[in-house]
Amino acid sequence: MAASVALEELKRFGGERAGLLSPLAEAVRVCEACRLCATRKQTVFGTGNPDSRLMIIGEAPGADEDQQGRPFVGRAGALLTDIIEKGMKLRREDVYICNVLKCRPPDNRNPEPDEITQCRPYLERQIEIINPSVLLAVGRFPAQWLCNSQEPIGQLRGKRFEYKGRHVVCTYHPAYLLRNYTLDTRKKVHADVMLALELLGSEPVVRP
Ligand code: URA
Repeated sequence: MAASVALEELKRFGGERAGLLSPLAEAVRVCEACRLCATRKQTVFGTGNPDSRLMIIGEAPGADEDQQGRPFVGRAGALLTDIIEKGMKLRREDVYICNVLKCRPPDNRNPEPDEITQCRPYLERQIEIINPSVLLAVGRFPAQWLCNSQEPIGQLRGKRFEYKGRHVVCTYHPAYLLRNYTLDTRKKVHADVMLALELLGSEPVVRP
């Protein structure tokens, strides 16, 4: 079984939250709760600063992420990095990034409801440990997960929601944005991330 990229990174960060996340990353590394364990190369637990007040949640690893063990490292990831760094003026390494599913669905198909259910406790615990002020859901699956809703992403974006006392903002998935790179979709994503920044407030994104 592949070593966990996340575990190595957590060792480098150190601190209480990293310490609490490590056994969870190890549990994910060896997880066989659903069929995706048979086809993954490795799990993708999440990366970034565990003391961040901003957590970005995507859908599931794709081929590049499955290969590298890190979320959002492919083309969509490059666009997400631009959104964080050029749009929000934050450093990507200061944000914690993970997904609803920790394993790649074959051929990048959509997550199945039972896979989301089996993986649910991992994300719940990640959120509990990191305790971000703002959760930014990118795409339909994390948006519906966090908002406990079946509405399409077009209805969930642009509004404020709450998940266990934390702010939630939803926006389009960067892969959707790449396929629909229009002024309209870019404006909407910009407005959504500005809302997330407003909700973060003036305190530093990484807690001291
Ligand atoms: N898309 C996602 O939703 N997550 C990733 O990690 C990569 C692509």
